Amino acid sequence: MTDHVIVHDDRAVRIVRMNRPDKKNALTGAMYQALTHAIASAADQRVRCLAIMGVPGAFCAGNDLQDFLAAAQSGRLDRHAVQFLHALARSAVPLVAGVQGAAIGVGTTMLLHCDYVVAGTDARFSTPFVKLGLVPEAASSLLAPRLMGHRHAFATLVMGRELDATAALGCGLINATVVPQQVDAEALKAAYEIAALPPEAVAASRRLMRGSLDEVVARIDQEVILFDERLRSAEARAAFEAFFARKR
Ligand code: COA
Repeated sequence: MTDHVIVHDDRAVRIVRMNRPDKKNALTGAMYQALTHAIASAADQRVRCLAIMGVPGAFCAGNDLQDFLAAAQSGRLDRHAVQFLHALARSAVPLVAGVQGAAIGVGTTMLLHCDYVVAGTDARFSTPFVKLGLVPEAASSLLAPRLMGHRHAFATLVMGRELDATAALGCGLINATVVPQQVDAEALKAAYEIAALPPEAVAASRRLMRGSLDEVVARIDQEVILFDERLRSAEARAAFEAFFARKR
């Protein structure tokens, strides 16, 4: 297990913190594994709400681009990433997120699976998939147009336009903004509020509201096929290499 994800249960709330600050919480295979386990085991362990958090300045800078570069050679996205996306989509417990700073790639698309999101005024959301020669993932090609309409989703997912906290609030990606120092407290307040509700009624309401999870999982899998193809492309490899060459 990695120490880049810290899992802590406090009463009925599970707090899951991505904690790789030196790399802006870029996700590795081991981090995906730890996140998957934390989400998938939550319901069995009587957790009633799970809060996903980052560190000051970085919620999550997306998949580790070194791993993408390696995947470009092997031709296949890390299956731990796919398992994480399935666990998110099928989570039996409500998900809350607290976002400070950068939320890039899966750092933004994972929020589409959350039930309540608090962001700091410093939060910046972006999904530069196409700029990296890739395609959207995490069922974002389905969920983002549903949430914000085709044109906002196109600007975000395809044009890679960044959203600040105000814009994210405006298009429904987040519920509330607070000063960065208050993000954890505000997200946990919502998590404890949800955990205090009658759990069976919460679960039934969530099922009604989220519709077919099979459709969401099928879209994740459909995206993964294209994503794998794009990872092998010269466009993607050039973009990953350019990121690591930028400081030389
Ligand atoms: N994968 C691997 N390493 C990453 C990373 C990622 N997705 N994001 C950041 N890092 C690393 C940087 O390489 C750097 O490492 P170094 O100190 O060893 O050089 C460290 O994290 C700090 O990043 P840096 O770029 O110096 O910080 P910044 O404050 O100038 O910018 C970001 C922060 C998040 C805006 C910028 O790092 C970035 O754009 N990252 C890539 C995001 C991305 O494209 N993700 C994939 C989405 S599909």
